Parts: sequence; C-alpha cells; structure tokens
Amino acid sequence: MPPNPPADAAVHTLVIDTDPGADDVIALLFAMAAPERLHIEALTTVAGNVPLSKTSRNARLACEWAGRPEIPVYAGAERPLERTPIYAANIHGHEGVTGVKVHEPAAPLAEGHAVDYLIRTLRAAPERSVTLAMLGPQTNLALALTQAPDIVRGLHELVLMSGAHFNGGNITPTAEFNVFADPHAAEAVLKSGVPTTMLPLDVTHKILTSGERIARLRTIGNRAGVIVADILDAYAPQEMQHYDMPGGPVHDATVIAYLLQPSLFRGRLINVEVDSREGMGFGQTVADWYGSLKRPANANWIVDGDAQGFFDLLTEHIARLP
Ligand code: RIB
Ligand code: CA
Repeated sequence: MPPNPPADAAVHTLVIDTDPGADDVIALLFAMAAPERLHIEALTTVAGNVPLSKTSRNARLACEWAGRPEIPVYAGAERPLERTPIYAANIHGHEGVTGVKVHEPAAPLAEGHAVDYLIRTLRAAPERSVTLAMLGPQTNLALALTQAPDIVRGLHELVLMSGAHFNGGNITPTAEFNVFADPHAAEAVLKSGVPTTMLPLDVTHKILTSGERIARLRTIGNRAGVIVADILDAYAPQEMQHYDMPGGPVHDATVIAYLLQPSLFRGRLINVEVDSREGMGFGQTVADWYGSLKRPANANWIVDGDAQGFFDLLTEHIARLP
C-alpha cells in the first residue's frame, strides 16, 4: 500500500450534505474548484436555512455556477427528526442565497431520496473510503444511520460545520443553528463512532471577511468571484452587526478548507455531547475541552484557524472557476 499522502495533499472521495444557504453556496463553489483533491460523488440536500425545495434548487445552482452540472444533487429530509422546523431566511434571504439573483437551473434533481442514496452508496463503497462533509442540519445522515447502521463501514470521516462552546451560540445563547435545527440528528451522528471533525462557531467566528478580502474575490475577474463577493457583501453586514464582529464568518467554507489544508486549523480530540432536552440548553453542544467528565473522545473539536491562509486558499480556488 502506498503511504498515505500528507493530510494537506489527501484526496477525498466526497459527498457534501448541505442546506444552501449563502455560506453553503460559497463552500460548494470552493469544493467544486478542487476536483484533483475532492472527488465529489454527489450533493445531498436538507431543509435548514430555507425549505428543502429552495436548498435543493440552490445546490443545483451552485453546480451550474461552478461549471459542474454533472454532479448529482439528491433532495433529502424536508423536516427535522422530532422538533418543529426552523429556518434562517432572515440571514440567508427568502430564496436562501442573499445578494444574488436565482433562477431554475438547467440540470434537474437526481432521482430518488438523499437518504436512499447515502445508504446505497455507503454500502457499496470500499471500507472507510467516503468522506462526508455536512454543512447543515444532520437529518439525512441520522435517518440513514437509523435505517442502515451498517453504513458506518463505508465512512472514512465526517467533517461537520456544527456546534459552539467557547463562542456561545448564534441562534440561542448556547446553540449553533445546524445543531439547534435538529439536535436529535446531531446526537445520533455524534454517537455513530465514525471519526468526526467539528468546525464550530469557536473557529468560524475567528475567520472573518474584510473589505480587502471581499474586494480580492471580486477583482479575480470571473463570474464566480463576483457571485461570492456579492453574496458576502449582502450576508456579512448583518452577521457583523448582530454579533458585533469586524467581519462576517463564512462558516461552511471552513469545512472545505479543512479538507484541503487541515494544517490551517488547530483542535483537540475531546468528548462532545448534544443536549436535546427542552429548555435553555436545547441544541447545546457540550464540548469537554478539559476532559473533566473523563468520557471517551468522539470528535476532533477545532478552535482556531489561520484566517488569512483560509482566504488565500478560498480566493485561489474561486479563481479556477468560470
Ligand atoms: O450556524 C451556521 C450554520 O447554520 C451554517 O451552516 C449556515 O449555513 C447555517 O446552516
Ligand atoms: Ca449551512
């Protein structure tokens, strides 16, 4: 067996589960610009930022904007496992991609439900061969794990934009949106036993836009650069105002940067559990950073990242697109 390449050169067989979503679209464009490193098998969509019909359309739009209309998009869960659905159109816009006009993409949705696609694909995959990036509520994988627990065999790693601890929440004082939108799913995923890396608000709120960083994207001179800059110009200000930050976070794109260059990030293998009880802590991720509870580690919890390195990597990849 050839030795594994260093992590910053690893090639991933990848499925991206997503609820586009302004930052999801940027993450998808980023990922689709790295075909030599990220062999994207499919996108699976879930209700989250906006309802399923819009997240599924927006995922297909991202493929069209990236010049990758061949990537199949499978629509998945239209509601969380148990809780009442919530959305974030106030942040992402009524159509789910603030700052840009949307249209019905030429490529249709792939036939069949995303959960069935995940089960079929992970059962057929070589052992521990598929990386699953999750950018929204984790309902699809939770449903797949319930219906077919054996699929863990096909998974190499889960890389999630999920959770908050040191930073505090963004939808409640304690909860981050992707977990709050389906805490029961997040609980099931964290108990799966699959190697898991989490990029919580603890790191995404440290990797922020600036006027210069957005201008650099806009002046690349291609359509993708203008789309990303227009999205960020519309999306960042309200995040900056609401959380009193000097720039806007590009949450989901940090997952793609981690896949391409994990050395940009710093974290620790710890125990993370989800509080799914009704009440003030509903959807909280309890990250035992200091090992106080002596429970087994189940997640690589990322707390820091090189912001300039992230924007350099993002800009370099967006420049490769049409
Ligand atoms: O809390 C941020 C997360 O919630 C991001 O994935 C964003 O797209 C929303 O889904
Ligand atoms: Ca998302």
